[in-house]
Parts: sequence; structure tokens; C-alpha cells
Amino acid sequence: MDSFLLHKKLPPNFSVLIPFIRFEKELENELLLSGHTIVFKNNKYFIVAPLDKKPIWAQELLSDCQCIEFSNKAHAVKVLKSFDTLGVYFPTDANTKLADSIRKDLRELSLKRIEFKVPSPFNFKYFAWGLLDSSHLIVCQSPSSQFPLGWHEFKEDKAIPPNRAYLKLWEVLSLGYIHLDKSDIAIDLGSSPGGWSWVLSQFVSKVYSVDKAPLSEKIQQQKNILYTSGDAFQIKPTDFADCSWLFSDIICTPERLLGLVHNWIDNSNVQNFVCTIKFKGDCNFDILKEFLQIQDSRIIHLYQNKNEVTWIRQGNKK
Ligand SMILES: C[S@@+](CC[C@H](N)C(=O)[O-])C[C@H]1O[C@@H](n2cnc3c(N)ncnc32)[C@H](O)[C@@H]1O
Repeated sequence: MDSFLLHKKLPPNFSVLIPFIRFEKELENELLLSGHTIVFKNNKYFIVAPLDKKPIWAQELLSDCQCIEFSNKAHAVKVLKSFDTLGVYFPTDANTKLADSIRKDLRELSLKRIEFKVPSPFNFKYFAWGLLDSSHLIVCQSPSSQFPLGWHEFKEDKAIPPNRAYLKLWEVLSLGYIHLDKSDIAIDLGSSPGGWSWVLSQFVSKVYSVDKAPLSEKIQQQKNILYTSGDAFQIKPTDFADCSWLFSDIICTPERLLGLVHNWIDNSNVQNFVCTIKFKGDCNFDILKEFLQIQDSRIIHLYQNKNEVTWIRQGNKK
């Protein structure tokens, strides 16, 4: 897209979207399908007409952005120092040398790996800035993400979890997308080698863990994880009458997962779900619409998700 005289083409209170790396195309398709105007895009960021809800495939939404002209580096630094909070720089690809030089003269909010806590206590106020070109800043004083630019790297547990899938549930829990209670009982489908079951076992009283493949030895030892070897599509929801939550990280088509979800909604007491919808190739936006027709549900592309999204429903409890 043409960036010539871009500052003259910006709509008032424009928004900036930062796409997830490697999923820029998905964000573009999502915006096109929803009829939203893209003013400018490159592989680092999109400038769009004002938006108040973060699209699924955006890592960060910066709403109500301002474009501020500056005459030289010292002027840009002065402008950025005039804000009450610390700034976080988002790369735009415009004059990166100048951006680096400005950053050297600023105090910035540093990005540190996050300690897993529920809920996350992190609540620093910050503003986001980037360079539109060599004489214009983009500034957003109200970024949408709790963590700067939607960056969400944890201090990982290298001792117990058998793989890194557990980070998805850490993100869901620490950002308050769901609330679990010790009186809850959960079923975890497609659970092997056991990262999700391990996380869940610390927040609910009992976890039914179902997979064709076994759990890792360490996870099997957890007393409140009850493992069943089997096909998640063959088990009967009526056999798990005490469950209030269903978690699924099964590798299957979105269509098959949707059928499974409806089966559990219709035939069990489970009203609460966290399910990974996995894609082979392009995102199927039509099937996402079908998931979203289920009341009280939402879809998020977690920082920890790859070519997949997370469908979450916290409905009524048992
Ligand atoms: C991405 S892995 C799950 C990782 C798991 N959430 C964790 O934290 O360790 C996907 C799992 O789905 C399981 N799976 C695929 N089809 C299944 C089926 N029909 N029934 C049960 N499990 C299935 C696979 O065996 C695999 O272990």
C-alpha cells in the first residue's frame, strides 16, 4: 500500500492493529469480511478506521490514535516525554534508525517474562508509540491489552508440564477469560501428554482426562486426574454428569469439534467450555460464526495459539 503523504489520509481517531506474526493474512481477511476499512498496512501494522473491538487475529488494538508532527529528533523526544506514563514502542518499519535513536533518549516500560498468577497482578499504565514516517509520530494513550502490545511470554515451568500446550490455559486463566472454582469438575478431551490436565488439576477438584494416547508419568501421578484411554467422540456425555467444564485441545476439524460441543450442551450438565479450534491452512470464518452463535461465547486468538483459535464459553453453572 502507498505510504506517500499517509498523514494526510488518516481518518480522525484512527486505530492501529498489530497482527500476530505469520497471521497478517488472517487479520486482513477478517477485516475485509467485516467490511472494515484498511487505510494502510505492511507486515508490522495496520492503520484502520476507528475500531472499538479487537479483531480475533489482532495481537493488539490501539484505539483513538493521534498523529503528531515533529520537526527533529529532539522535538519527538520532547513530545513523547510529555505523557504521564511510560511509553512502549511498536515497530512500523518507518525509519527504524530514527526510532532507535529516539528510544535511547526515553525511559520505556520494559517487557519482562510474566510470572503465572491468577488473576495477573500486572496493571502498569502505558502509552504506545511508533513512527508513521520521518516526521510524524503515532501515539495511542489507551492501548487495549493489559500487557504491552499483547505480548504474553511467561516464565515457563520446565520441570513438570510435558509440553508447552499448558501455556494456553495459563493465558486464559491469568487474563481472566474464565474463572474456575475448587468445586468445579472438568473433563479434558485430547489431553495427552497432560499439560492442560495438570493446570486444571490445580484449580478444580477433579479432572477427567481422555485421550487415545497416554499421559506422561508425572501427570498420571496427580491424584485428582482420572485418565481414560479412548476416543473423545465415542464417550457419552451422560457418563460425566458431575462435570461443569469441558476443555478440548483435540486435533480434529472445526466441524467435528462443533458437533461434539453441541452434543455436550444438549446431553450433559456442562455449560462452560474452552476449546481449541484448529485449522489446516486458511481460517474458516464461516465455522467461527457458527461457534459464536452459541450463547455467551467468544473467540480469541491467544498469544500462545498457532494456526488455531480458542473458543470460550462461560455459561451457567450446574
Ligand atoms: C495438541 S495435543 C493435546 C495436548 C494437551 N492439551 C496437553 O496439554 O498436553 C492433541 C491430542 O488430541 C488427541 N486426539 C486426537 N484425536 C482424538 C480422539 N478422537 N480422541 C481422543 N484424543 C484425540 C491426540 O492423541 C493428542 O494427544
